Amino acid sequence: MKIFITGSLVAFAAGQDNLGLSGGYNNLQSSDFKGTIVKSSGTLASLNSSSTGFNFLPTDLLSQLAQNGAHHLGDITFRYRTLSSTSWTSVDSATSRKAVTQLQSLGTGVIAGADLAPTLGSARPLKVTREWLTSGSGLALRFNFTNTGSSSIELGSLGIPVAINNIFTNRLATDTQAKCSFADPYVGLDAGFVRVTPLSGTGNALVIAPLGSSNFEAWRFLQESPGSFGYQGQTYEGNYEWQIHSLAYAQNEWKSTTPWNTATSKTLAAGEMYSVGVRFVLADSIHTIEDAVVKSGTPLAVGIPGYVVPSDLTTRLYLNYTSAVKSIDAADFTIAGPSTTPAGVLYSLTPKSSAWGRSRITVTYADGKKQTVHYHVTKDSSSTLADMGNFFTTRAYFNKTSDPFNRAPSIMTYDHEAGAIVEQDSRVWIAGFSDEGGTGAYLATAMKEFVQPNAKEVSLFDDFIQDTVVGTLQQNGSFGVVASTFYYQPGAVNYTYNSAFDWTSWTSWDKARAYTTRRAYNYVHPIAAYWSMYRVARDYPEKKLRQDWSWYLNRAYNTTQYCLSNRAANCDYGLVGLMGEWVLGELLEDLKREGLTSQVTELEATMRYRANLWETEAVPFGSEMAWDSTGQEGVYYWTNYFNLTKTPIKAINSIFGYMPTIAHWGWNGNARRYWDFNYAAKIAQTERQLHHYGSGLNSLPMLNHYEQHPTDLYALRVGYGGNMAPLTNIHQDGFASAAFHSFPDLLKWDPYSGDYGPGFLGLSLGQCVYILSNTKYGDIAFGGNLLSTSGASIISVAPRDAVKRRVFIADLGLKAEISAGIISKVDFDKSGSTVTLTLASASRSGDLQAKSAIVWLKQPGSLSVGYKIDGAKTKRAGWSVDLSSGQATVKVVKA
Ligand SMILES: *[C@@H]1O[C@H](CO)[C@@H](O)[C@H](O)[C@H]1NC(C)=O
Ligand SMILES: *[C@@H]1O[C@H](CO)[C@@H](O)[C@H](O)[C@H]1NC(C)=O
Ligand SMILES: *[C@@H]1O[C@H](CO)[C@@H](O)[C@H](O)[C@H]1NC(C)=O
Ligand SMILES: *[C@@H]1O[C@H](CO)[C@@H](O)[C@H](O)[C@H]1NC(C)=O
Ligand SMILES: *[C@@H]1O[C@H](CO)[C@@H](O)[C@H](O)[C@H]1NC(C)=O
Ligand SMILES: *[C@@H]1O[C@H](CO)[C@@H](O)[C@H](O)[C@H]1NC(C)=O
Ligand SMILES: *[C@@H]1O[C@H](CO)[C@@H](O)[C@H](O)[C@H]1NC(C)=O
Ligand SMILES: *[C@@H]1O[C@H](CO)[C@@H](O)[C@H](O)[C@H]1NC(C)=O
Repeated sequence: MKIFITGSLVAFAAGQDNLGLSGGYNNLQSSDFKGTIVKSSGTLASLNSSSTGFNFLPTDLLSQLAQNGAHHLGDITFRYRTLSSTSWTSVDSATSRKAVTQLQSLGTGVIAGADLAPTLGSARPLKVTREWLTSGSGLALRFNFTNTGSSSIELGSLGIPVAINNIFTNRLATDTQAKCSFADPYVGLDAGFVRVTPLSGTGNALVIAPLGSSNFEAWRFLQESPGSFGYQGQTYEGNYEWQIHSLAYAQNEWKSTTPWNTATSKTLAAGEMYSVGVRFVLADSIHTIEDAVVKSGTPLAVGIPGYVVPSDLTTRLYLNYTSAVKSIDAADFTIAGPSTTPAGVLYSLTPKSSAWGRSRITVTYADGKKQTVHYHVTKDSSSTLADMGNFFTTRAYFNKTSDPFNRAPSIMTYDHEAGAIVEQDSRVWIAGFSDEGGTGAYLATAMKEFVQPNAKEVSLFDDFIQDTVVGTLQQNGSFGVVASTFYYQPGAVNYTYNSAFDWTSWTSWDKARAYTTRRAYNYVHPIAAYWSMYRVARDYPEKKLRQDWSWYLNRAYNTTQYCLSNRAANCDYGLVGLMGEWVLGELLEDLKREGLTSQVTELEATMRYRANLWETEAVPFGSEMAWDSTGQEGVYYWTNYFNLTKTPIKAINSIFGYMPTIAHWGWNGNARRYWDFNYAAKIAQTERQLHHYGSGLNSLPMLNHYEQHPTDLYALRVGYGGNMAPLTNIHQDGFASAAFHSFPDLLKWDPYSGDYGPGFLGLSLGQCVYILSNTKYGDIAFGGNLLSTSGASIISVAPRDAVKRRVFIADLGLKAEISAGIISKVDFDKSGSTVTLTLASASRSGDLQAKSAIVWLKQPGSLSVGYKIDGAKTKRAGWSVDLSSGQATVKVVKA
């Protein structure tokens, strides 16, 4: 839905040049950077890599960012009080700019220095200086605070605004891709840093690391006016600051939340000076950001497989720093180690039985530095999925057959705070189970039944499909999918609309608008529901559904073709990548396995047209939004499928640009999203989302890229982080939230299930146990517990992922997948290149038990040795395995 504010193009007018651009610039140079600062304000105007010339700042727009209130690198904000006062005084160098006073004598390495008194406003017993200096091959920014009064002063907040070129407003897609960058924080105290990555995903990256002891405690969004570019809008997310201290916020604006780190303040005795700052360090590429962190002398933490830890998983933490680890404070984990590895000292962390939810560990080094690593512990993943399936098929199950919109039976959006189904919302689709915003609960349930089918839930879901998807979501015998089954039209329906809601917005569609069927995105969700029920019907034939498996498969196929065939003639947005359309690839594979050759030919023709189109486009990642992180998944899938050469790697690089790896569960593998709270959440605002569906969806191409390039461990870490993310949204009672609010006054899950669904779809189609041997990290497994010791000739792994049906052996470039039941153990015999899989009928006794399964083998990358299942019969393009006894052992051998 396209309602972003582009901001009116206010021409730069004389008088708004509060920054003082007319006074010219000074150069700032080190061996890695060429930059400029504005003479008058002393703030950074450009920061280019000396080797590539790439500029991390919006220098070309600076004249429209020169007004008071717009932040730049080099600004400072703080709150202070004298000890006799309880209230804080807030100061911000950008609020009312005045030319700063240049320092006359500069220290060694200092390129420019200023006393900030003029721009900090009224006189106070604090002197604040700012210096720009060289620091190794990079640059640094230092602030010295001196208490010039006669009594102590407490600094309750101290923040360094980080403004980079994340302004897309009025830029062409190609310019946005070529010029802009993203910033992602690691709130890791003395080990904290900001990653600045170009949107193209290629070229140099920037690391902003602490100078001396400049604790990275919190990441605060800076309120600014809309300005010329629609600040805090879809094309301009806005600026944040690195907070070295945050107590004054924690006590006030944030008092109802638990901050990421313990909030601190700093007391300065009379005459005392306090020096803080950041370093700018160039990384050759996004892949080598961690090397740049180590080079900057900052402690580095790397979690394998990541920072989301199911209760039955042991996770690894590698710490790379020159000073020894003195202690680790980790209340929720049992810690084993350390051992020494080429990647640093290695610890193993196992959650204690009481642990659940956000969990922070604090590492203290011998030199006094402290580092926090932020984990999220979940129940074991099978229990987590069971909880979710149960929650949505009971608490969110809508059964009012008198509903005039014919929405019963269905699985509806749920409001966890109200403890009720969202029967109405002025953004009608949220109550009309369409769009992404209204489908989260049902789509997640559909995919849960594919992964872990439960008889009662499957029946309820089948009723939803037979009685409501057919008839209400798809009406009058058509395969068209309506934009919303709920609408606002008091005259047209006997229904009491809540008069407390504002029904005047564009989002309160009338019947005619709600019943339009042109939005291509809306088709993927029912297709996924049909496909999932096809797989349940096909692979668990003892469970009787209301239709034969072929009915579900045909509905999935026809719904896809209705929208996307014939150059997507029936749909809008059919020629861009669609959220969750990875499932259309699964559908195509199943049509092939069923031998439905004419449908295969037709569906391939539909997709080939789209893929060939994307291959001709410079930036083929269009969507409803001006910039987006949703198209890459589908664009990658089909251009890779048809072996096109340019686009798949462009899609992967684009994802590298917006999907980081960071030692924090919320940012690790978090594909950038910051506007969808407006369309699908209870707390509707433009705000960086943690683990909105982008994490799960973008992980799919990233994991597939890794499978084709098993030496690219960085891709696996990013992809795995994103793929595990949808587990964190699931609460202890099974409710799953749309996303986590990252602004420090909220730091909580949104109460709506909203648009959770596509993220869970990503998890369902992506979860896999990855087994690899790496020269730095040793023998490692993502998604399972390593049972063998490092270096053993047989690597044994117990799967702990949420699907337990896929395994990838990096050494062989081999992926095995089963259609039903679970893989309970994997043994990879390195010397014989054989893999033994132990299978079981289900992960839980109360769920449907598979009586047989198909094993599929593929080699996604360049290795093509050819494997088979020893002694098994072929079926549905794989090998059939009998599971009637509840378990089986199969051996993958060279064909
Ligand atoms: C820095 O990059 C900008 C493009 O944003 C370019 O105009 C400028 O010339 C570059 N400066 C240097 C010193 O490379
Ligand atoms: C700021 O403090 C540092 C010590 O941390 C000192 O080296 C530097 O000279 C100081 N600069 C100014 C302008 O006071
Ligand atoms: C970590 O430390 C080791 C040396 O102890 C070094 O070889 C390695 O490259 C470092 N960096 C990273 C990113 O692991
Ligand atoms: C409808 O759902 C409610 C709440 O889950 C339940 O108590 C009730 O028994 C259901 N009614 C029918 C007819 O299924
Ligand atoms: C509207 O519905 C209510 C109860 O659902 C019913 O009592 C009433 O008669 C209906 N009114 C009309 C005009 O159909
Ligand atoms: C289905 O048919 C009914 C009756 O003609 C009509 O009111 C409704 O708008 C149609 N639905 C769609 C999606 O076209
Ligand atoms: C859908 O497609 C299949 C071919 O896959 C076709 O045989 C069937 O009749 C179509 N219609 C429906 C209503 O499923
Ligand atoms: C793409 O290339 C692979 C490997 O050569 C081949 O097996 C596959 O059939 C090709 N795919 C298509 C759609 O042509």
